[in-house]
Amino acid sequence: MRILTLGDVTDPRAIDYLAAHLWAFRKDKKIDFTVLNAENAGFIVGPSPEDAVRLLDAGADVLTGGNHTLQKKSLHAMLDSDARLLRPANYPAEVPGVGYTILPANGYRMLVMNAIGRVEMEPMDCPFRAVDRILAREEGNYDFSILDFHAEATGEKVGMGRYLDGRVSIVFGTHTHVPTADEQILPHGTGYITDVGMCGIREGVLGISAETILQRFLTRLPERHQPADGEVRAQGAIFTLDEGSGRVTAVERVTF
Ligand SMILES: [Fe+2]
Repeated sequence: MRILTLGDVTDPRAIDYLAAHLWAFRKDKKIDFTVLNAENAGFIVGPSPEDAVRLLDAGADVLTGGNHTLQKKSLHAMLDSDARLLRPANYPAEVPGVGYTILPANGYRMLVMNAIGRVEMEPMDCPFRAVDRILAREEGNYDFSILDFHAEATGEKVGMGRYLDGRVSIVFGTHTHVPTADEQILPHGTGYITDVGMCGIREGVLGISAETILQRFLTRLPERHQPADGEVRAQGAIFTLDEGSGRVTAVERVTF
């Protein structure tokens, strides 16, 4: 089984790009299941319900979230009603949405989880224990498992990979918008990458225009973020999963 994980959609133009290219890429690479982080799809915040529907139609099986997912109040009802849309599991239980889902793919039950980091981010419940609770609650109800760990600090993400090695099929990171070159198979068979990057425009700074970001760095004055201009590219990773052993046998970073 081949699973595609894609980084943060940073801009509505990236939604258009995925709508035009993702199904063809899936077909070309024989992808069975796609997880896409959509938390910035409306430019920084998002997605809106319309954005989410477009991304699902574009070829994403699950949309994961992060620190900006709940900022769009218009999405709250969809978070409560659509099992293909996640927000981090370690938010307070009262907030809309859920942090994991189980969906079919090729006759298997795919558990997809989403958690958010706590290092250089907002205070939140422990992401390690949040994942432990999901795995315990759903034991026997899934065949393979995937975690999108949306976090800033590389150390926290690498630690999560080690913590879940052999217990979760795939652990991939999002949030920084910069891909890392550490795709690997951990000793007990978990496929891992610290960050898959972004689906967006790379000419600016993480999807935002360099001028507005540099103005902030140079003057410390508030400056309204403007989107970057340039060509959209989608960044992610493909994990090949051996269905017999449950182990990942290959991890490949991709850009299209
Ligand atoms: Fe984020």
